[in-house]
Parts: sequence; structure tokens; C-alpha cells
Amino acid sequence: MLYVPRFVVFVACLQHVLCWQSAFLDPNDRIELSWDVDDVAAEITFNVSAKTNGWVGVGFTPSGGMKDADIIVMWIADGEVHFSDRHATRQQVPIVDEVQNYELLDASEIGGTTFFSFRRSIDTCDITQDYFIEDGTSQIIYAFGETDPAGNDPSQHLNTNRGVRSVLLLDAPLGDIPVDETVKTIEFRSPSVPVPSTADTTYWCSMHRGPVIDKPHQYIGNKAIVQKGNENIVHHYALYECELNEEHNAEYFEQLLVDYAGGFSCYDPNSPIGALTSCQSLRVVWATGGIGDVYPAEAGYPIHKSTDSPLYYKLEMHYDNAAFEDGIVDSSGVLMYYTDNLRPHDVGILVAAMPVLYAQLIPPGVEEFVSVGHAAPECTAKYIPEEGINVFSILHHSHLAGRRMRTRLFRNGAEEPWLLNDNHYDFNYQQTRLLSEERKLYPGDQITVECYLSTSNRKKATLGGLSTYDEMCESFILYYPAMSLGFGESHPSLEYIHEIFGFENVTMNIDTMEYWVGDQLMEDVLLDFDWGNFDLESYQNRIRYGEHFGICAANVLEAEEGIIVSYPDVEEYQEPPRQC
Ligand code: HEM
Repeated sequence: MLYVPRFVVFVACLQHVLCWQSAFLDPNDRIELSWDVDDVAAEITFNVSAKTNGWVGVGFTPSGGMKDADIIVMWIADGEVHFSDRHATRQQVPIVDEVQNYELLDASEIGGTTFFSFRRSIDTCDITQDYFIEDGTSQIIYAFGETDPAGNDPSQHLNTNRGVRSVLLLDAPLGDIPVDETVKTIEFRSPSVPVPSTADTTYWCSMHRGPVIDKPHQYIGNKAIVQKGNENIVHHYALYECELNEEHNAEYFEQLLVDYAGGFSCYDPNSPIGALTSCQSLRVVWATGGIGDVYPAEAGYPIHKSTDSPLYYKLEMHYDNAAFEDGIVDSSGVLMYYTDNLRPHDVGILVAAMPVLYAQLIPPGVEEFVSVGHAAPECTAKYIPEEGINVFSILHHSHLAGRRMRTRLFRNGAEEPWLLNDNHYDFNYQQTRLLSEERKLYPGDQITVECYLSTSNRKKATLGGLSTYDEMCESFILYYPAMSLGFGESHPSLEYIHEIFGFENVTMNIDTMEYWVGDQLMEDVLLDFDWGNFDLESYQNRIRYGEHFGICAANVLEAEEGIIVSYPDVEEYQEPPRQC
């Protein structure tokens, strides 16, 4: 009944040579795409295995659908192989390309399975009719027919025989968690939570006891456990470790396990205060589409045995019940792997972000609006050790308006190559991404996270907030050795926002996480705003490039504020140009 997401299966991988990865494209596992990247030749080999005797189409799309997609259409009829490189300008028969850039390697139709193997360059340089496979998310569309076409073109598919899903084609696979006799596992799962049907957004917390150990151990990786059938509502989760103190000691947490066995609403003012104030050290973060984490061989998360008691954890699940469905019960969570075979370094997570706040106020009907957050040089100077830290993976997180995301790095008056970039960010596919090589961060570095958002289909302004219809802009940076900086965030001036939108007396209702302006909801006040005469360009410039107020902190409750930060005045990093 519970399962670990099956999206990407690692078939074989020897030091990034022969790294076959695969993903089922459709919900019924009828179309499987496998691929292997040859970095030296800058080529990818694809295998398509489809449970049909009819035609199959697989395409790369910049639009999320048929529009502007680069499509391969293939079938075998009467022993004759049909294979063509095509493109679609809209929802119609894909047009055969003038230049055929896909090389057919193999094809067969056996026992109801149609198989094709083919190869293409990562960049075919066919700028108008092929898709340029970039670093980051690629959206793949598929369609198939149950029978072979009568002529040279496929007939229109049923709307149940087509779809889209995202994959990371060029990233190295996460790899497997090395499991030997020293490795044990523990699950932290939601306690059969009845997901409310009265709200689309629910943050539900549950308390958990860590493994009982008698000597230091480390977590070496984790896997998401998403309850089958609930894939669409389990949106993201975070696992926090609780710090024991005199008041919130082991006895206190043991009592919470009993009193709140079914969990509690995370942001309810009546929720247990110790769970809010003492459980702040982020250990795992996961979002929809992800698989989990595998830490590098030289690092793990410490579970030190410093007292006689086990550690306690808070699991915060974000449910997004967009259809207000009744009767959903959820037990999703995370499977943690730990060992006493200690690695030399401890892993840490640094969150570079714009805080979740109404300062992230995005006007409606905008094709592209950029939200940014900076981890200021003052923050990194104070906490990162002289010898630096090593970043090995990053999770980008924004909500439904997110289209592109980038984590930038500024050092000594220059911009370094981006830490991570994704030109096709997909809210439904948020995977912790392994960097192709580890990157160093040094004291004085500035990390800037940029979220390129689109509100072109929205009539109402979008505010920073917890619901998936609100926005966030966050980069979760996994690194070693651990240091005590947990958050490097920044937001534009609230006074400026108040002045532009005429806000007075802004308050937040902690119960509902809503912002109020006097006695009116902020989103309702914005409904009456005169967007027609709004100077969007100068607003965007000020919000993006103007002074930000920096926050740097070990955890969200001990924030050091009052740091002023903005983009440094340096020459921007330029990606190497396409070789076309
Ligand atoms: C004779 C060839 C084709 C015709 C006439 C055609 C036509 C259409 C039409 C009318 C729709 C909208 C109705 C619906 O949602 O089902 C559609 C949607 C779709 N088609 Fe096709 N199609 C063809 C081939 C393909 C191929 C080869 C692929 C995949 C490689 C594909 C992928 C999709 C996808 C993913 C959608 C939903 C997203 C979107 O709206 O664009 N189609 N197609």
C-alpha cells in the first residue's frame, strides 16, 4: 500500500559511464523511456519500450504540450519500420522535419511490446525544429495508438493515451544508498491523517522518536514514502530535529507522542509550543516528484548520543487537496538510513531564500516576474569556516507560478558559475539535484536565489505564503562539513510595499496564515488596486534590484536581522555559448 516513488530507476552506472536511467511516462506504466548520456560525444541514446502494437510518439516540449514540441513518431507495420523526426506547432499531426537528427539504432515488435532505440546530439543545432536539451528539467510528452496508422501519419490519439512528465535527462543519477550489515532504517510517517476536505492547504505535523542508539551514528540518506493514491495531494514535507532543553526535555516529548499521537495542525496557535520552538533543525526536505537523498561517501547527518535519551523529530507534511476531496487518509513520510560506520564529515542544510512573507507580492497578469532572496556576505562571513564548505546537492522550491529557477554565487567582486540553474522548473517535479561536481562556498560569498514566475493566467495578485497558490522562492543547499548557519534570506522593504499599495496597519492571522490590512484581507484590498495604471517595470526593478533586508540565522527563531543586501555590482556570469 505504501511505495517509494518509482519514477526513475537506475539500471547501471559505473562512474558516470553507462549510466542508464529510466522513467515510465504514463500512469499505467505502458510507455517506458530509458536514456544514457555520453558526455564526451555530447549525445544521448534513448530506448522507448511501449506496450502497444500500434504507433508511439515521444517528444520534448518547451510549452508543456504539443505546441513547439520536438517529436519522434515510430511504428512497425508488416515488418516495415517507420521512424521520423518531427515537430508540432500546435495540436495537430506532427510535421516531418526538414533535417532528420535522430539516428535509429534498433526496432522490434514482440509480444505486444514495441521497442525503439535511437540516438541524438544533446544540441542538434536545428534551432527551429528540434529541442535543445539543457541542464535541468526536461518535459517529455508521449502519445500512442492501439493500432498502426493506415498511411504515413499517426491518427489522433485518445485523450487517455497522451500525457506529459518531467525528467532530469542530463543529471547524474542519485545513486544507491550503500546498504551493508551496519545500515539500519527507521520510518517517520504521518499517523493515518484524515486530510481535511474543507481547505486546499493543510500543514500537518507529527512527532517521532528517533532510533534508540548507544553510540554515535549518522544518517546516510533517505527515501520518500508516498502513499499510493495520494501522489497528487502529498505536496512536500520537512523533517526537523528537536533540541532538548530543560523545559522541553525527553519527558516533555514522550508526553507529546502520547497527547498528539494523531498529530496536530502545524500553525495552529494551540499546537504544542515545544514542537514549534525546539524542533527547528532541518534534517530532510522533499517536494512532489522527488525520490530522496543519497549523501556523499565522506559525509552523513550526525545522530550523536549526547544524552541518555533518543532524539525527537517533527515531520511537517504539506497536503494540497486542490479538489477538496473527501475521505483521504494519509500515512506518507520518510525512510531514513543510518549507520555507526561513521564518515569523516557531518552534512548540513543551508536555506537561501526570500522569506515566506507578503513582501513577495506579484502583480496579476505578468508573463515573467522575478522574486529574489540573498544570503548576504555578512552571513556567510560569520559562519562559513576559512577552509570553506562543499555543496553536493540543491533542491529548488517555488510554487505553481514558478517557471525558471537559478541559484547564483558572487565572490570577490565577480560572479562564479551558477550553483544550479533550471530553465524549465516544474512544480510537479521537484527533485533534490546532485551537482555534477561539488562546489565550494567560502566566507564572504553571496548566494542569490532567483525565481522567474508567471502570473499571466491570474486575475488576482499573488502573495508569498504557504498554499501552493501563494508563492515561495527557496533553495535548499546540502553541504558538508556542517556549520551553524541554517538560513540566509532577504526581502524587499516592507515600507516600500506599504507605500505603493497604500497598506496601513498590516497584521497576520497566525491561525489562518492570512494577511490583513486593517479589517480587510490583503488579497481583497489588492482586488481593488488599479493595476491598469501600475508602473510594473519600476516596481519589478525596485523589488529585484533595490535594497533588501537580510536575515541570517542558525534557525528561524534566532534570526539576526538588519543586514542590508542587494545584487553586487559585478559582471554577470555568462553561460558558454551554444556551439551552433
Ligand atoms: C495525428 C497526430 C496528432 C494529432 C491530430 C493530435 C491532436 C491533438 C489534439 C486535438 C489535442 C487536444 C485534445 C486532447 O487533449 O487530447 C492533443 C493533445 C495532446 N497531444 Fe496530440 N496529436 C497528435 C499526435 C501527438 C503526438 C505524436 C504526441 C506525443 C508525442 C501528442 C501529445 C499530445 C499531448 C501531450 C497532448 C495534451 C497537451 C496539449 O494539449 O498539447 N500528440 N493532440
